[in-house]
Amino acid sequence: MTHARTTLRLPADAAGEAQAARILREGGLVAFPTETVYGLGADATNSRAVAGIYEAKGRPRFNPLIAHVASIEQARREGVFSPLAEKLAQKFWPGPLTLVVPLAETASVCDLARAGLPSIGLRMPAPKIARDLIAAAGRPIAAPSANRSGHVSPANADHVLADLDARIDAVLDGGACAVGVESTIVALLDDRPRLLRPGGVARAEIEAVLGSALAGADPSDSQPLAPGLLASHYAPGASVRLNARALEPGETGLDFAGQLSGALDLSPSGDLEEAAANLFSALRRLDAAGATRIAVAPIPAQGLGEAINDRLARAAAPRP
Ligand code: TXA
Ligand code: MG
Repeated sequence: MTHARTTLRLPADAAGEAQAARILREGGLVAFPTETVYGLGADATNSRAVAGIYEAKGRPRFNPLIAHVASIEQARREGVFSPLAEKLAQKFWPGPLTLVVPLAETASVCDLARAGLPSIGLRMPAPKIARDLIAAAGRPIAAPSANRSGHVSPANADHVLADLDARIDAVLDGGACAVGVESTIVALLDDRPRLLRPGGVARAEIEAVLGSALAGADPSDSQPLAPGLLASHYAPGASVRLNARALEPGETGLDFAGQLSGALDLSPSGDLEEAAANLFSALRRLDAAGATRIAVAPIPAQGLGEAINDRLARAAAPRP
């Protein structure tokens, strides 16, 4: 349930930025300008805050979110930068390019923000106000576009408020966005850089810096992406059975609101936001503990329950 709240419109000055940073550090939601679109920001290290993003957007499924950083040094603490990744960051940051790289051991971004993946999408936005905000918050900021799910991306603070007024804590009003389309996303996870999404930096500009062609997102590519190679969703190793009212022999339970006795509970009090915040780390814990069959208690379908059930249904679907 989204708690109705007053959404502040904060000016893009030192006082507005300081207040926005304080709200982020306390786990609140702040929309802020980037050069592409307004992002709906939350502390990327706080899974409750990140669950709030999904709640506010009404997004029916969990995707990995981009972690926004204020500097390359901050990005290197979250992700492993190969020489090519370094080259792209040096050339295009700050700017509309997101780099998907392996997760660093020193990473602070929570499981939910990465949708459980062992990789991370990082980007340093261009506007000084955005970078100052992230630096003042003192942690990476997870942010998808600041619109209700299924609506168009917002290019100014009025667009944000039209969709999210009373659903978020504040919008930092930095005027209109310059680029208007989302960032280009490039994955650097092996020796072949791949274009995951075309966007604000042209493919040719990136290829010129790399000195080679980017794979992916081009039907004429002679080596198209192998399906599933870059699966953008974490799947547990165990099989998953949904709507379990009791455990069968050999099953490990994943509970909600105390329905299964002795099982790991996503939220003993039946709070869907808490359950969403715990979902990916719980799956990972069961995996690490060697569970082979996971039985999941019924989870209500309203609010964040829809995204939780979507994720679990995919985990339960037969896999190749
Ligand atoms: O311009 C932008 O990129 C805007 C502004 C706010 O920065 N953000 C944005 O976020 O477009 P969003 O959530 O709409 O798109 C993020 C994309 C998703 O398609 C997601 O799958 C991909 O980034 N992504 C993030 N981390 C990933 C990862 N580890 N592996 C694969 N894809 C990832
Ligand atoms: Mg979007």
